[in-house]
Amino acid sequence: MTAKILDGRQLAGKIKQELKGRLETVKRETNRVPGLAYLLVDDDPVSKHYIAGKTKACNEIGMNSFVEVLPANILEEALLYKIDSLNARPEVHGIIVQLPLPERINVHRVLERVHPKKDADGFHPYNRGLLFSSHTAIVPCTPKGIIALLKENQIPLEGKHVVILGRSLVVGRPLLMLSLNENATVTICHSKTENLKTFTRSADILVAAIGKPKFVTAEHVKPGAVVIDVGIHQVEGKLVGDVDADSVSQVASAMTPVPGGVGPMTVAMLLTNTFQAFQNALADEAGATLKPTSHLGR
Ligand code: GUN
Repeated sequence: MTAKILDGRQLAGKIKQELKGRLETVKRETNRVPGLAYLLVDDDPVSKHYIAGKTKACNEIGMNSFVEVLPANILEEALLYKIDSLNARPEVHGIIVQLPLPERINVHRVLERVHPKKDADGFHPYNRGLLFSSHTAIVPCTPKGIIALLKENQIPLEGKHVVILGRSLVVGRPLLMLSLNENATVTICHSKTENLKTFTRSADILVAAIGKPKFVTAEHVKPGAVVIDVGIHQVEGKLVGDVDADSVSQVASAMTPVPGGVGPMTVAMLLTNTFQAFQNALADEAGATLKPTSHLGR
């Protein structure tokens, strides 16, 4: 068996085209465009690379982007102040604080400072809580992109066993909730999981988000399973994921490539979230009743 490739780049392109059209319509009607702001602490080359990709995507669809690079030694209070000022700017509808932050900075305090209505990443505890209670909320981009990619390829989650490798707040935990909302049976495995292969080999859909290059091999995969690779690493000058694509492609029925799989979907979902926040802001201004964050004020 050679696995079908789940082309994230193609679907992301389609989503961006659609957003571009919707954005042009709103711009014609209101003379307003959405804006996405990025805060990057330190000049980390990997984070810079991610942000360059996100900024390019904004430009492609006509969305404004504002990037601020802050010094590595910035005080936590100064970073919080920066977030406050972005929260107050009406032309900014989405805010991203690029992770990881330096260890001395309390990441929870920082993410809580982003106004939940401008939380393009869906990392604020309020939005995480909404996801937990199955409400619509601003949902973290990578898991949202994974679900969209599965749906686009007519891969049902209902009744299926989804096994997620990695329990991060960015991918594993929100993907657990999204998969449950789709009526999947879900298992999360992590670095302390014993007998890992027992779990991975029972997965109908296996998601690798552990940050270890080529960790998942054919031995981890049930024949015919769908494999989603969230990892991205540079190994000997080549981009590889958490999945050993050469061996897994021989047993899986479908898999995401690296690059061109989950990565572009994450960016497309970021634009989608920002557009959603923008529309909510316009509705707020028009005095419309807002679900579900209406009582939070601005
Ligand atoms: N670092 C790696 N991925 C992400 C992401 O999706 N959002 C933010 N804020 N930082 C990241």
